[in-house]
Amino acid sequence: MSISVSELTANETIFTIEATPVKYGAGASLDAGWELKRLGVTRAFVVVDPEVRARGVAAPILESMRASGVELVEYGDVETEPSIHAFGRAVQAATAASVDGFVAIGGGSAIDTAKVANLVSTHGGEIMDYVNAPVGRGVKPPSALRPLLAIPTTPGSGSEATTVAILDIPELKIKTGISHRFMRPAQAIVDPELTRTAPSAVIASAGLDVVCHAAESFLSRPYTSRPRPETADERPPYQGSNPVADLWSGQAMRYGGQYLRRAVADEHDTEARGFMMLSATMAGVGFGSAGVHIPHSCAYPIAGLKHSYRHPGYPGEKMFVPHGFSVIVTAPASFRFTFDAAPERHLLAASFLTGQQYAPDDREALPNALLALMKDVGAPSGVAELGYDESDIPALIEGALKQQRLLAVSPKMPTEADLERILRESMHNW
Ligand SMILES: [Fe+2]
Repeated sequence: MSISVSELTANETIFTIEATPVKYGAGASLDAGWELKRLGVTRAFVVVDPEVRARGVAAPILESMRASGVELVEYGDVETEPSIHAFGRAVQAATAASVDGFVAIGGGSAIDTAKVANLVSTHGGEIMDYVNAPVGRGVKPPSALRPLLAIPTTPGSGSEATTVAILDIPELKIKTGISHRFMRPAQAIVDPELTRTAPSAVIASAGLDVVCHAAESFLSRPYTSRPRPETADERPPYQGSNPVADLWSGQAMRYGGQYLRRAVADEHDTEARGFMMLSATMAGVGFGSAGVHIPHSCAYPIAGLKHSYRHPGYPGEKMFVPHGFSVIVTAPASFRFTFDAAPERHLLAASFLTGQQYAPDDREALPNALLALMKDVGAPSGVAELGYDESDIPALIEGALKQQRLLAVSPKMPTEADLERILRESMHNW
């Protein structure tokens, strides 16, 4: 007698873990040329973050690629927290360049620019065709893209390990994403030496993003609590927590708790910055499978609605809320709200960050662990410091509710009233 799965449960029974192949270590970026050859690339569109180029970090990598006989088409028009227009310019340039591979050297902004340039120059159409529904049309690319070699230079987005590119759409006052497994880089090279001299403010924001990726993934609703999709095609990229994603997220939190303060305090502490690089990639694998939810849902309107904040020590003149800060400011209140859904996992997350043990009913353990870390690395104190007041809360709620793809994996689905309370509590975290 055979029993079909549908007779067993109406809930999901399957999860998937995928990871970008990662090469890690001091000096690993000098293998860039070798990796491109291995991937069969002869002519590459190379997206280089201009700030990174100015720090002298990109030149040896470019040299390694040239020495391997790969033709390079360099592209330096990388916006921090890129808009759809910046992506559009990159798509145009990549289409004109007729290349057979892509390279990104920089933070999440550079890697995401390369992902979208690769996607749209390979399959045509408009960027909005591919943007997640309901903001865009959510079209799935019909086949694999050309190989992308991702070389992150800041420990943050984990974009080297994920299928996602994040973009700002100023006309809609919204930040959202494009996500598909074909966008995952073919190879990542994670080289701690590249973080040397990266500004501490950048390391702080990026590191807090890492910690949130890991904590949100670890606390996302179990994949078995989702309804089972009708077909494999309908299975969402963000599946909810599962035993394998938990391993990556847990270790990323441990490294965040142990090394972020040091990585921010000393720009030459490549040991601490190296562990944060690993932490970022590990968290990327974890959230690429499990997903992020409330803090990231709130972060998009926080970063998208107003551009009036400048964080001290951040390079460039652009007024914007760095992504990690936009995420972390609502994390303490979000995890206070979700505590009931899985108290023991919240306590475990706090223990990963601090190494301490907590009483079973200590709902402040995780918020307090995050607040201490935020203060120690110079994060903004709350949503108010980023330029918002109570009158902005309805617009922020509306923006957060647009991120249904993310909220779907929250361990507890927030109502409008819940989001209002979270945002109100997050105005002044201290
Ligand atoms: Fe993030």
